[in-house]
Amino acid sequence: MENVLRGKNIIIGISGGIAAYKTPLLVRLLKKCGAHVRVVLTESATRFVSELALATVSEERVYRSLFPPADTTGVDYTRHISLGEWADAFVIAPATANTLARLSTGLCDDMLTALFLTLRPGKPVVVFPAMDGQMFLSPSVQRNIAILSAQGCMVINPDIGELASGLSGVGRMPEPESIVSSLEKAMNATADSSLLYGKSVVVTAGPTREKIDGVRFISNYSSGKMGFAIARAAAERGALVTLITGPVQLETPPGVKRLDVETAMEMYDVAENFFKSCNIFIGAAAVSDYRPAAPFEGKMKKEKPEIEITLIKNPDILAEFGKQKAQGQLAVGFALETHAGLDNARKKLNAKNLDLIAFNFFDRKTSGFEVDTNILTLIDKEGTTTELPQLTKDDAAEKLLDFIEKLCLKT
Ligand code: CTP
Repeated sequence: MENVLRGKNIIIGISGGIAAYKTPLLVRLLKKCGAHVRVVLTESATRFVSELALATVSEERVYRSLFPPADTTGVDYTRHISLGEWADAFVIAPATANTLARLSTGLCDDMLTALFLTLRPGKPVVVFPAMDGQMFLSPSVQRNIAILSAQGCMVINPDIGELASGLSGVGRMPEPESIVSSLEKAMNATADSSLLYGKSVVVTAGPTREKIDGVRFISNYSSGKMGFAIARAAAERGALVTLITGPVQLETPPGVKRLDVETAMEMYDVAENFFKSCNIFIGAAAVSDYRPAAPFEGKMKKEKPEIEITLIKNPDILAEFGKQKAQGQLAVGFALETHAGLDNARKKLNAKNLDLIAFNFFDRKTSGFEVDTNILTLIDKEGTTTELPQLTKDDAAEKLLDFIEKLCLKT
């Protein structure tokens, strides 16, 4: 693929979070791609990363203050404007809660925030929030992210993992390699190519496994192919895709952030992190409805002639999102049925407060689990019913996304 970063002018805005220590490596990677890089630091970022290191790797001076130093005379009072003109793209990594708040309200009390306002229209702004998990999930941070996304910024969800506090959760800044590939994606896509461009899309896929004992589980035949096809197609349209998948034998589609889980409870816990900040939630996973109430530690021995396993209900991930979704968020589900299909699908659409449901005909030859094709009937909440022919799962995913784009127009 052609290197889209070659010769491009990239500004990296760094705010004051621990992840700032990784930014010299980010600058290095961008320079290796042939980009010209200039760095803008907030005051608190200087506590986490050295200006000298950034100036050395970028081979440029680093910008911090809106005003030139007191001992210089000259006319350099409008650097925020000339930098805005110079930039082909603006990456803000890490973006702290404070910086997100200042960006979303239009404050411009330092170089980073002032520059944000002077960028030329249509230039990609890619924002990487990174902070403690609870801070990230707080309503204020989520609101500010929603404002920035609505303005056309690509806000990339943080990774899940160990945090500086020693806790584990959502909030880690993606690694520099991943930041570079998000930026490449942003530069490749154009804002008018798809209504999904820059939208945050969460897809669940695959089966879940519910433990009976240390070596056995309850599961289903889902291969994850449909969910992966949707994730791939959405990423190709410029969406920021988070794919939460149960155990499957599939390659991660390019540009998709994949999170592997095993049980329905794990899938729920991971998905919950993204409920508030995503634009579109697509439940394509075949989530086990029940799990053994008390999985046996170790391996059960076949001592008794019969055993009983009590199953308890798992949370319904999609229904939970449907219940919590805010104005403008879309919830899309699948309905796998073996009889009374359309009626049941309509009931699920209403019960889970969905915007669209794809009724999935199940025969294990042409449609449903494991096979490479699907026969979908799409039903939206106004009752419009669209029957699709037998299609490959890739083509069915494209049709589904075409339909979702139409819904985006209405929201
Ligand atoms: N779903 C979910 N969490 C669950 C169960 C289902 O998110 N615990 C989602 C699926 O991903 C799918 C939709 O809900 O998008 C419908 O799933 P399906 O298995 O067809 O129906 P159920 O709601 O589980 O109902 P039933 O098993 O009674 O048909």
